[in-house]
Formats: sequence, structure tokens, C-alpha cells
Amino acid sequence: MNTGSSLPRDSFSTKFGVIAAAAGSAIGLGNIWRFPYETGVNGGGAFLVIYLLCILIIGLPVMISEFLIGRSAQRNPYGAFKLLAPGKPWYLIGLMGVLAAFMILAFYTVVAGWTLEYIYQSFMGSLKGKDPVQLKQMFDNFRYDSYRPVLWFAIFIILTGWVVIAGIKNGIEKYTKILMPLLLLMLISMAVYVLTLPGASAGLEFLFKPDFSKITPEVILKALGQAFFSLSIGMGTLITYGSYIKKKENLSGTALSVVGFDTFIAVLAGIAIFPAIFALTSVENFDVTRLADEGLVFITLPSILYSVPGGQILSTMFFILLAVAALTSTISVLEVIVTYFVEELKLVRRKATIVAVGSVSVLGVLSVLFTGVFSFLNFTSANILLPLGGFFIVLFVGWFLSRKVTQDELTNNGTVRARMLPVYLFLVRFIAPIAIAIVFLYGLLN
Ligand code: TRP
Repeated sequence: MNTGSSLPRDSFSTKFGVIAAAAGSAIGLGNIWRFPYETGVNGGGAFLVIYLLCILIIGLPVMISEFLIGRSAQRNPYGAFKLLAPGKPWYLIGLMGVLAAFMILAFYTVVAGWTLEYIYQSFMGSLKGKDPVQLKQMFDNFRYDSYRPVLWFAIFIILTGWVVIAGIKNGIEKYTKILMPLLLLMLISMAVYVLTLPGASAGLEFLFKPDFSKITPEVILKALGQAFFSLSIGMGTLITYGSYIKKKENLSGTALSVVGFDTFIAVLAGIAIFPAIFALTSVENFDVTRLADEGLVFITLPSILYSVPGGQILSTMFFILLAVAALTSTISVLEVIVTYFVEELKLVRRKATIVAVGSVSVLGVLSVLFTGVFSFLNFTSANILLPLGGFFIVLFVGWFLSRKVTQDELTNNGTVRARMLPVYLFLVRFIAPIAIAIVFLYGLLN
């Protein structure tokens, strides 16, 4: 039955390694770049409440389902569905995941490239002494300049390919373990510092005080999309990672830790950013939604960091850590495509990676040059493909996969207790699929 080579499959060496790698995939630009501007555009507190609800009743069950499918099948998503449901069309979910991976990489790596520009600009000191209005101007000038963003994109995608060729353990675990805690530390310090600024409370209010009149079907759709995007679920990334998790590891506990970290970091980024907007721009009479676009972090965070002594070093450091967080995410997305090429198309890993990087680059360059392409890839992958993938993944586990497989995976063949099993089953069979379907229908038809 083995579709791959006869070598034993690589696996994560420790429990911490699993969580670090999965959290490394989940935590990235989605939390620090995408979450704040989506929250800003879609009404602040109300968006946050719906986002948190989506994480809990849809995101967590989908993540557990992906881990479970991956570990029981020991395959890439496409191969996993072929193995668990022979002769049935479920493998199409795997194919959709590969498509989503292409789309995500093609715009995400562009933003990752922006972080490299900002490492460079911070290091050169060119962000110094600029107010938010000037920083916005600078961001726009850079973004719509065609050649620098293409250059940084190319550097980033090649870097990602290089790490993926190095393999799972060496490639991924090594980097995430050291640098993620540093990023966390920096974000916490920034959030604490920002709260001491005059005018910060308006920002907190914007983030935490829900104005429910702001909720529309579109806002709900975007909160759902953001939840999927941020957790790296809905396209099989975590099926692939699940296939590398050892049999003795506790899947639901792992999922819970990853979801917890990911959500904490997103909210933390919000706490660092929104009070800063209000504190920094009160003079200019800035309206939040005017700043809230794809440039948000690139404007507010340098402003905060440069307002303290040593800003140049802090800003350089911050963007380095952000680039690393982005890298651990791009690796995980590329991994989906590469594992598929290796196990299903029988390419060697190196060649698979090169082909994948080459084809992503074509779409990536288009998304640098045409904002419309960028927005289309961003919107469609997060708000449509991922929830659609998640919908089928929970249906698969809830209604198709044998109860025994689910039970064995969640109890590690009966050796640990899974007290939440009935709740989990209820969520994957009813709540999650119905919720996704409703959000989808209203969000897209309105
Ligand atoms: N979750 C990552 C972030 O927030 C991005 C990401 C990595 C992703 N792998 C994914 C998104 C798989 C969707 C699916 O930055």
C-alpha cells in the first residue's frame, strides 16, 4: 500500500518539536500583518468576537481533524484521502489544498518580501524621524515600485525552497525553536509599552468593545476566513504535519496549544497596533479605517519602535523576527506542494521543490505587479478555498471516516482518555459544517 519509497517516514523528534513546527506554521503574517488590518477594516471589536467564535467552534475541530487524518494515513493530503477513502472523490479536497497552497504562496511571499525591505530600511535608518503620514507615503511608494518588491519576493521564495530541500527535521525545527519565543517577547514588550502612551485607551476600546451594528454577512465571512488562514487549516498543511507526528503524541492537546498560541499572538499584535494608531495619529485626526490596509503594520510598528531609544535596532530586530515567522509559514505551505509532487508524481524532493518554486514565482510576480491579482488571491484563498476545504474535512471525519479510526487516533489506541471526544464529534458532525455553510451562503450571496 505504500505509495512512497520504502524508507520510514520522517517524524518530529519531540513533543515540543511538533508544537513548535505547527505553531511556526500557524503564527506568521496572518497574525501580525493580516489580522490587524482585517480587524481594522471590518469594525474592530465585533470582528474580534466573531473571529474568536470561529476559532473555537470551527477552527479547533478542523485542526484536530487534519492532524487525525494525517497521522492515521501517513501521507500527503491527496494520498491520505485516497488511502482512507479508496475509489471515492474525497481526494479532490487534497487537490484543492494544493491549489490553495499555490495561491497563498503567491501573495503571502510578496508580503514576506516586504518584511525584507523593512529590515533593510530599518537597518539603514531611513524610517527614522518619519511620522505616520510619511511612513504611509513611503510604504505606498515602495509597494507600487515594481522592481524592489519583485526582487525581495524572489529572494524570499528561494530561501523558502532552500529550507524545504533540507528536509523536515533539520529544515524546520531548528529555526522555529529559538526565534519564535523571541518574537513573542518583543510583541509583549511592545504591547505593554503602547499601553502607556496617551490616547491608548481609544485603541483598546476599538479592539475590545464590540459594536454589533458593524456586523454584516461579509464581516462574518471574513472573520471565518481569517480564522482559517491564521490557523493554517483547510488545505491540508496540518494533514501533512500530522503525518509526521509520532503515534504516542496527544493530538487534541497539540491542537489546543497551537490554537492557543496563535490566537494569543494575534490579539497581542492587535494590542500593540490599535492603541498605537490612536496615540500616534490623534494629532492628524486620522480615521482608523484610513490607515487600515495592507500597509498597517509597516506604518504603525516602526512608529512605535522609533519612539523609544534604540529604535533603529529594535525595528531591525522586529522585522527580522517577522520575516522568520513568515518563513516558517511559507515553508509549511510549500511543503504541501512538495510532498504532493514527491509522493504522487514521484519527483525527487529537490526537483519537486524547484518546480514548485518556479511555478509559484510566475503567479507571485503577477501579484506584485497587479494589486488586483494580489487581492484576488488573498480574498479567494482565505475566505473561500480554506473554509470550503474545512467544510469537507469535518464532513469527512464526522460522517465518512470509521468511528474506530477517529477514536484510536484521539485516544492513541486506547492508551489515553479523550474526555472531549463526544464534544468533538458533535462539533465535526453538526456544528462546524452547518456554521460554515451558513456563513458561506450569506456571505457570498449578499
Ligand atoms: N497561518 C499562517 C499565518 O498566519 C499562514 C499559513 C501557513 C497558512 N500555512 C498555511 C494559511 C496553510 C492557510 C493554510 O501567517
